[in-house]
Amino acid sequence: MVLLPLLTSMLLSSYFHPGSVVDAQRSFTIRNITLSVEPSAEVPRGTNVTIRCTAVVSSSGQEPLNRKYSIYQGSNNIYTKNTITSEDLLYLLPDARVSNTGKYKCAINIEGKNMQSDATKLTVTGLSKPTLHLNKGVVSEDSKIIEEKLVNSTEVEFKLRFSSVGYHKVHCTYSVLMMPDSFKSEESNTITVSVKEMSITPVLEIYPQSRIYEGDVLSITCTIRNMAFNPSTAPIYLYLSQGTRLLSSGDTKVNYSTVALAEDPMDFECRLEIGTVAKVTTKMVPVTELFSTPTITMSPTVVFQREDMSLTCNSEKVASERINRENVTYSLEPPNFLLTSTKPGVFSGKTMMYEFNYTCVAQAKGITKYSATLSVKPKVLVSIPKISVVQGRAVLGEPFEILCHSDIGSYPINYTLLWDYEPLNTTTVWLPKEQARFKVTIRRPEEINKFMCEAKNNLKITQDPLSKRLNATVIVPLTEPTLTILPELAEVSEGDQLYLICGTKGSPPVTFKFYRVGDEQPKFTTTSNINHTHYRVNELTKGHGGTYYCEAINQANNVFSERVTVEVQMALWKKALIGGICLVVLSLLVLGCVLYFKSKRARVVRTAVSVWSERPPDAGNDEVSSVVSNEPDVEYTEVVHPQPLDTVRAPLRKGTDTVYSELKNPPHGAADLNDYQGSVEYVERPEAFPPYPEVNNYQDLPVPVE
Ligand SMILES: *[C@@H]1O[C@H](CO)[C@@H](O)[C@H](O)[C@H]1NC(C)=O
Ligand SMILES: *[C@@H]1O[C@H](CO)[C@@H](O)[C@H](O)[C@H]1NC(C)=O
Ligand SMILES: *[C@@H]1O[C@H](CO)[C@@H](O)[C@H](O)[C@H]1NC(C)=O
Ligand SMILES: *[C@@H]1O[C@H](CO)[C@@H](O)[C@H](O)[C@H]1NC(C)=O
Ligand SMILES: *[C@@H]1O[C@H](CO)[C@@H](O)[C@H](O)[C@H]1NC(C)=O
Ligand SMILES: *[C@@H]1O[C@H](CO)[C@@H](O)[C@H](O)[C@H]1NC(C)=O
Ligand SMILES: *[C@@H]1O[C@H](CO)[C@@H](O)[C@H](O)[C@H]1NC(C)=O
Ligand SMILES: *[C@@H]1O[C@H](CO)[C@@H](O)[C@H](O)[C@H]1NC(C)=O
Ligand SMILES: *[C@@H]1O[C@H](CO)[C@@H](O)[C@H](O)[C@H]1NC(C)=O
Ligand SMILES: *[C@@H]1O[C@H](CO)[C@@H](O)[C@H](O)[C@H]1NC(C)=O
Repeated sequence: MVLLPLLTSMLLSSYFHPGSVVDAQRSFTIRNITLSVEPSAEVPRGTNVTIRCTAVVSSSGQEPLNRKYSIYQGSNNIYTKNTITSEDLLYLLPDARVSNTGKYKCAINIEGKNMQSDATKLTVTGLSKPTLHLNKGVVSEDSKIIEEKLVNSTEVEFKLRFSSVGYHKVHCTYSVLMMPDSFKSEESNTITVSVKEMSITPVLEIYPQSRIYEGDVLSITCTIRNMAFNPSTAPIYLYLSQGTRLLSSGDTKVNYSTVALAEDPMDFECRLEIGTVAKVTTKMVPVTELFSTPTITMSPTVVFQREDMSLTCNSEKVASERINRENVTYSLEPPNFLLTSTKPGVFSGKTMMYEFNYTCVAQAKGITKYSATLSVKPKVLVSIPKISVVQGRAVLGEPFEILCHSDIGSYPINYTLLWDYEPLNTTTVWLPKEQARFKVTIRRPEEINKFMCEAKNNLKITQDPLSKRLNATVIVPLTEPTLTILPELAEVSEGDQLYLICGTKGSPPVTFKFYRVGDEQPKFTTTSNINHTHYRVNELTKGHGGTYYCEAINQANNVFSERVTVEVQMALWKKALIGGICLVVLSLLVLGCVLYFKSKRARVVRTAVSVWSERPPDAGNDEVSSVVSNEPDVEYTEVVHPQPLDTVRAPLRKGTDTVYSELKNPPHGAADLNDYQGSVEYVERPEAFPPYPEVNNYQDLPVPVE
């Protein structure tokens, strides 16, 4: 930070005087400025302090420079001096005071160039000791500081009054506040002030002076002693008070009479006021109780409505030196005519129906004392209890809760659960929000009616109210259902009627559900009041086959039957039909075979016969041979479709198609009858074939085309 102004000033000087020879003489630079405090930075009050400001200035010329020094305390310029010497600037603080404490800085200005020193703190410790002067050495009793007056910056005047008699030592101090610090001076010299007592005083007298009992009359006087020595001309006042209660007041004498009471605070005060001076005399009067505060007790401590009871009032202690016990009379407040006093302090009779507050009043010698209030709350007998099942229903074999409840009755109430008149369990209910619940289990439905409840809240009662018998629904859980199939499984076939019967044991209503394995939804659902139901399938088809089971549900549980698989067999007529078809086919085959074999033999004979019979008998073997040989490829052209030329095995076809067997061209002219017959076979003719009756095939051979 110090370098910056230095650099700046060098730059400025080089800028404004760029190497000018003439101006070179005047060239200078302020190298440093420091401020120091002598003899030290912390000095006691009264020291002669010197503040020294040292500036280091380098200059090239011989001419002295005009220096302007400024000294700052905090931000206040406290001293400025112009000089042409290069000597340190000294600023004197003779006889330094606390107010000289502060931060000092020094600044220098030479022909417009400035530099400022760092701040140096001066601390002056210690304040001057104040002196106390007093105008009067002896005063008469009076009171406290009443005035404070600032005379000038170094003097303050106080006016004091002293409230108590005797010697009082007085001294003073002062403080100098220099934010943020505050400096406290030493204590001044001490001056003793002697305060003399005023001889005029109040006098308090109470009669009788001792052994005061309740009811005694007290005579109290408040007077002034040494009235003649009153130094003051101010008016005199007397006040007689008891605690905060002003009993009486006057100017020279006050008297008062009252009856002594034990409970009141018996402290009296006689007060004398003259001008601003008050003088007080107090007295405490001990009062003995004539009889102690009565207590009220009840017997018995717990009573029910209209029951006998007695209240007893009693004052434990009686001042026997003044009265006898018999002198204390007792009464009840409010007066109650249901209760009669059999002996002093004892009141007997029937309890009220409702809550009643009693206070006992004891009296003797005009003194009345009240006991604390006793609240008699007669209890209410429990009403006939009601018995119920908590959930409204009981499940056989499962635990359930029985609730016993009386609408009326004071707590605590003992509820006893009875089974067949035998107590099972007892529970005590203390609060209205509590309930008497008993957990039980029954094995047979009829057992539910054996439960009863008894309620008791009064030990004196022998015949306690008894509830009715428990009446509740008992739900018998369902047994595992059985699924029966009708007709019997083996006999189920298509078209039949199928009955699935699901039966179980347990409490109705029962919901039955029939399921087939693999199906999401039950096949059939019904709710029944009897323990079985059925599901009927008319017109069974193969699709009805599968594995079935049923579910039975009642309020207690749900159970599933075992699974039964139903296989639907084929209908009888279909079987018969298939059988029949098979039979037909079989018989056809057999017939075919038979025919074949038969015809094989028969044709040999028949063909030979027909050939020879229809042809002219004269036609020789040669003709036949020639016919065959002339038309070797086509025989019976009306019958035959184009025919393989070779000696091939044509496929044997059924139905309306022509069936060929092996066709063999016999060697020319070498035809022998047997060969010829064996080579050609005609089994069946196409339907489209024109009008030759079938028999012709066999009986009338067609005429060969010539
Ligand atoms: C000025 O002088 C003081 C004391 O001699 C020294 O501590 C300070 O570093 C100097 N400052 C510069 C800028 O030379
Ligand atoms: C302070 O200086 C005054 C004269 O200026 C001198 O009389 C006094 O004795 C000095 N005080 C101390 C403590 O040196
Ligand atoms: C203050 O007042 C008193 C008397 O009134 C005088 O004797 C004293 O010199 C005064 N002091 C100052 C510092 O004015
Ligand atoms: C006070 O005392 C005076 C005389 O001593 C008497 O006449 C007056 O009746 C008394 N008053 C009371 C209230 O006792
Ligand atoms: C107290 O009772 C007795 C009798 O027991 C009687 O003689 C006396 O006068 C009674 N005293 C008071 C103050 O009532
Ligand atoms: C009895 O006194 C109690 C308080 O002490 C009060 O709450 C209650 O109402 C009183 N009962 C009657 C019947 O006055
Ligand atoms: C009686 O009831 C209580 C609470 O309901 C139960 O803890 C206890 O086991 C019961 N006793 C019998 C003998 O059932
Ligand atoms: C209720 O039962 C408890 C415990 O069994 C017993 O101490 C109390 O005397 C009974 N209270 C009544 C009114 O029966
Ligand atoms: C039991 O209760 C049912 C219905 O709540 C009622 O119809 C029946 O009469 C009752 N049985 C007895 C014995 O009270
Ligand atoms: C249905 O209930 C009757 C008696 O109500 C019982 O005899 C019969 O066995 C029950 N059926 C089944 C399948 O359990």
